[in-house]
Amino acid sequence: MYVVCVGGGYVGSVTGVSFAALGNKTTVIDISREKVDLINGGKSPIYEPGLEYIIQQTIGKSLFATTEYHCIAEAGVIFIGVETPTAPDGSADLKCVKNAATSIGENINKNKFTLIVNKSTVPTGTGEVVSSIISEVSGLIPEKDFSVVSNPEFLREGSALQDVFFPDRIVVGANNQIAKEIMRELYKPLVTRENYHKLCERYFNFEWETPEKLPIYFETDVRTAELIKYASNGFLAVKISFINEVAKLCEKLGTNVLDVAKGMGLDSRIGDKFLEVSSGWQGSCFPKDTSELYLLSKNYECELSIVKAAIDANFAMHRYVVEKIIRFLGCLNGKTIGILGLTFKPNTDDARKTQAEFIIPHLLSLGASIKAFDPQGMETFKKFNPTLDIKYCEKAEDVAQRADCVLLLTHWQEFMNLNWQEMVNTLKTPYVLDTRNFLNREKLQELGFCYQGLGVKSK
Ligand code: UDX
Repeated sequence: MYVVCVGGGYVGSVTGVSFAALGNKTTVIDISREKVDLINGGKSPIYEPGLEYIIQQTIGKSLFATTEYHCIAEAGVIFIGVETPTAPDGSADLKCVKNAATSIGENINKNKFTLIVNKSTVPTGTGEVVSSIISEVSGLIPEKDFSVVSNPEFLREGSALQDVFFPDRIVVGANNQIAKEIMRELYKPLVTRENYHKLCERYFNFEWETPEKLPIYFETDVRTAELIKYASNGFLAVKISFINEVAKLCEKLGTNVLDVAKGMGLDSRIGDKFLEVSSGWQGSCFPKDTSELYLLSKNYECELSIVKAAIDANFAMHRYVVEKIIRFLGCLNGKTIGILGLTFKPNTDDARKTQAEFIIPHLLSLGASIKAFDPQGMETFKKFNPTLDIKYCEKAEDVAQRADCVLLLTHWQEFMNLNWQEMVNTLKTPYVLDTRNFLNREKLQELGFCYQGLGVKSK
């Protein structure tokens, strides 16, 4: 099948490259000449484990990239994988989606049926918006000459290829039988996993887990599929905010949130995922998706108060981290805080919306000085937070130099094996606050650190 993917970012590049690896001639269209040149040069436009390797294996063979829309006329399936950032009022900004729909309308083949697939996270009802734009621009008739379906992405940054090739489920919202049949054909290799071992051997250089069960291919209508995505992210955010609040209660009770989460997770109705304590959730998805979902519910006068509570609890968790440092150090005026991790989670360079973006200004407002290090996200963080007065360090250990606290916000694996002996020697106060309960507390305490986690006893 000839696939075109509009958008070469976190969703579009992963989607396009994956369908190329599955044997479809695939062209990724992006307005950024830089992104297109990177892909055509065998480079990944984003930091995503395993993506560059697949690009190198497929570019010029089944994968192509361009800034032009002419290829739309040949395409059988066109994915819209562009960003839907948060607008000032908190709703999803559909400018990029509408622009993509217009360009598709201008170039769509008028002599054959074309399927358009919303892969981006889009508010319920966007399928109709895309359909009306394409129809208006091209003069074609929806559901006759073309159809728009919803196929939400459930990709976690840092493990996106795992989520493409080994998903729990594939959700397809379609209102047209032809559209359903095309999508079933396109996704057949992912559902049946025929000859998957050959695909993995040829294309994968990342660590993957092969789930026991094959993915569930789930069909529904377009609007319902669009809502499934928001409801899923909204619930995951609720789950994290729940365990983060329990962590605060554990600190009062002297109980261990790690054991609480483990004990809860053994109940198959709860599950053990997304119960890891943090300084709160962030990223380019949860904040925008929870905000859009909540606003949607308000607009329909059926407020999702639990989602709102999760949003509020999340900001409270960012504040709690600063309050905890104050409880240990006292007044922060004149103190220095060394921060490990600026990205919203490990294994990504995405620092567009992160915990640090909220916690650092709070610390600065109290008179603290900030040193920071991140293995992949410093450039992006600087770009999105140009006014923050931060000393960016060349290496992680430097955040401890003459500092009063090492604050771990993102649990990059390499932070486990830093030269902690050097760090405890250069700190003014040997205090480490590990907001992910990630580090080896016994080892750090032996070195002389005052170790604190979140929701765990500080012996
Ligand atoms: C999320 C959804 O997981 C994915 O299905 C959707 O397609 C896009 O949004 P992503 O935003 O990449 O993916 O990251 P995710 O792994 O979900 O983490 C989101 C935030 O929650 C991160 O800040 C992460 O550190 C935090 N988190 C995650 C926790 O604090 N605790 C957890 O147990 C899990």
